[in-house]
Amino acid sequence: MNLKDSIPAVDQTAPLSNLDEWEDDVVRRYPDPSKINADKDEEAFRDYNATEKDSVREFYRLNHRYQTFDFVLEHKKKYLSFSKDKMPIWDAFTFLNKLVDDSDPDTDLDQMQHLLQTSEAIRNDGHPDWMVLVGLIHDMGKVLCLFGEPQWAVVGDTFPVGCAFSDKIVFPEFFKDNPDIHNSSYNTKYGIYSPNCGLDNVHMSWGHDEYVYHMMKDFIPEPGLYMLRYHSFYSQHRENAYDHLMNDHDRDMFKWVNLFNPYDLYSKNPNQKSWEELKPYYENLVAKYLPQTLSF
Ligand SMILES: [Fe+2]
Ligand SMILES: [Fe+2]
Repeated sequence: MNLKDSIPAVDQTAPLSNLDEWEDDVVRRYPDPSKINADKDEEAFRDYNATEKDSVREFYRLNHRYQTFDFVLEHKKKYLSFSKDKMPIWDAFTFLNKLVDDSDPDTDLDQMQHLLQTSEAIRNDGHPDWMVLVGLIHDMGKVLCLFGEPQWAVVGDTFPVGCAFSDKIVFPEFFKDNPDIHNSSYNTKYGIYSPNCGLDNVHMSWGHDEYVYHMMKDFIPEPGLYMLRYHSFYSQHRENAYDHLMNDHDRDMFKWVNLFNPYDLYSKNPNQKSWEELKPYYENLVAKYLPQTLSF
């Protein structure tokens, strides 16, 4: 099958009313433990297939069908030369905020607010400043949507391609439509990989995580790079489904991924300080680690 011929028409590229709908749904799947009522069974919260949102199901149906090994390699080739644009990070945030402005003017939070809430929660807990920076930039890769990529190639849980899809990935039944499950090179436990080969040798499904990791790879300490690259890899950091591909260094670094994840999911704060108030701190922080302009 020629994948390009089978990619859906434009109206099927955006089943979610906005990108936050995916993240809201992840919180539904992995609720904040501190907010779970004592009389409710945590497992009941995790009965993910009880989700009522058709838009989220449709989003995952498309994601699981079209995220193939070839699709990932094509997109790495297309985007990882970073030859599309150059802009200062502050312009990039303005650019990113168009995502909400264009698609869903009623959403209460723009992208910048989610980034600031994440970074401020990290800062308030006294973590290193580079981790605060990671909070600020972790979703910068969502600009891929503005470059014309469909939602299912920008957000959603990420997972390895080139080997069997774990049944611990959300909506595993939708992988039946992914052509890679009929490819004998890819449909075994290890596929093209070897036991404990290390995640750096593993191709992940394409999205905002992999893109921002490569964008920041020369500027941020390694634990922060793991946070950027694997923050949507829920089947590993929550379900431990791919330990057989990880090496000891990955396991060590995933402590940082696990540390970051609650800040991404549970940092909503109605009393967030204004950007004007926070600006001097973040201007200094960005100047400390990042170049004047970023390449997209
Ligand atoms: Fe993200
Ligand atoms: Fe996020």
